[in-house]
Amino acid sequence: MVHDHKTLRHARDDNLATHLDASMRNVELKARDPNPGRTLERAVALGADDRGEIRQRDTYFTGARGRLKVREQQTDDGAFWDELIEYSRPDDVDARTSTYRRVPVADAGPLREALDAAYGTLVTVAKRRRLLMWEGVRIHLDDVEGLGSFLEFEAVAEPGSDLVLERNNVERLRAELGVEDENLIATSYADLVLAASDGGRPAAGPSTAVADASEEVDPSAEELLRAAEEVMHTAHVKYSHFPVGAALRGADGRVYVGSNVENASYPQGQCAETSAIGALIAAGQTKVTEVAVTAVHMDFCPPCGGCRQRLAEFARPDTPVHLGRPGGPHMKTTVGELLPLAFEFEPRG
Ligand code: THU
Repeated sequence: MVHDHKTLRHARDDNLATHLDASMRNVELKARDPNPGRTLERAVALGADDRGEIRQRDTYFTGARGRLKVREQQTDDGAFWDELIEYSRPDDVDARTSTYRRVPVADAGPLREALDAAYGTLVTVAKRRRLLMWEGVRIHLDDVEGLGSFLEFEAVAEPGSDLVLERNNVERLRAELGVEDENLIATSYADLVLAASDGGRPAAGPSTAVADASEEVDPSAEELLRAAEEVMHTAHVKYSHFPVGAALRGADGRVYVGSNVENASYPQGQCAETSAIGALIAAGQTKVTEVAVTAVHMDFCPPCGGCRQRLAEFARPDTPVHLGRPGGPHMKTTVGELLPLAFEFEPRG
């Protein structure tokens, strides 16, 4: 069995060859690929260097700021090399910048088990990846278990780069390989697997209309849902394994976020909405003008009774509340609908 980390790293994976301990940046694009055979042909015709296929299994953990995963990977000739990867990236269909750290791991199994024991596993994503390189851009042709075929472009930025070259290269590849707008994907495979595994189960909750993806996108709701989803990955949920993210808009127009923070003494745990209210108040704001809540294991996670009361303290009855996921179906309701007859303190005399 070939087991030569260094050779492999250079031969298969230029991205791991330099600055292993430094934070790196990518310009990235992800899309569904209705015709992977054609994409491969076009990429090769363009002069991309085919580095072959890799089987990868990524295990994501809860409790991380940004995202944390153990990647176990193996080529068909039996060579394997594993990594711990930490990254953060905005959810956006346009070419986006991500920062990341990749750390080679000698023995991924025990590390994965240790992280699972400490933080809990959020989701596992298995795929076959065909890797090609073109002008410093990694082209991934991915067949993801349970999801289907996708392509990704990752232009690795030189330190100090203004990212113009990287963006141009990604745009050129997008045009040459014929990536259609309708196939662009804003979220990660992990989020897609999580959404698929929930099977579209709506929570018992507000009777308000569910908007589907074909309806007009409300940019303010999308921004909040994206922020809620991003912060959801920081949740400290080692007891329930139920990560929740909340995003609130203040009267200043800015977005304040929070995730749920559990405790060994269970009742001391705090909901995501409560954390977000703390962030808004700490920033000197006193009003909540819009709310979004996202949960990994529920399509529509309605705020608990206590959080409804807490939100009502700073919101109005007509303050909109969005439940769902960015880019996916979501439910729109209001603070007043969630908490009719809200308690208000009116001291006597
Ligand atoms: N949770 C929230 O953070 N927000 C909600 O709206 C509902 C529930 C949290 C509390 C706990 O950490 C976990 O979800 C499971 O109840």
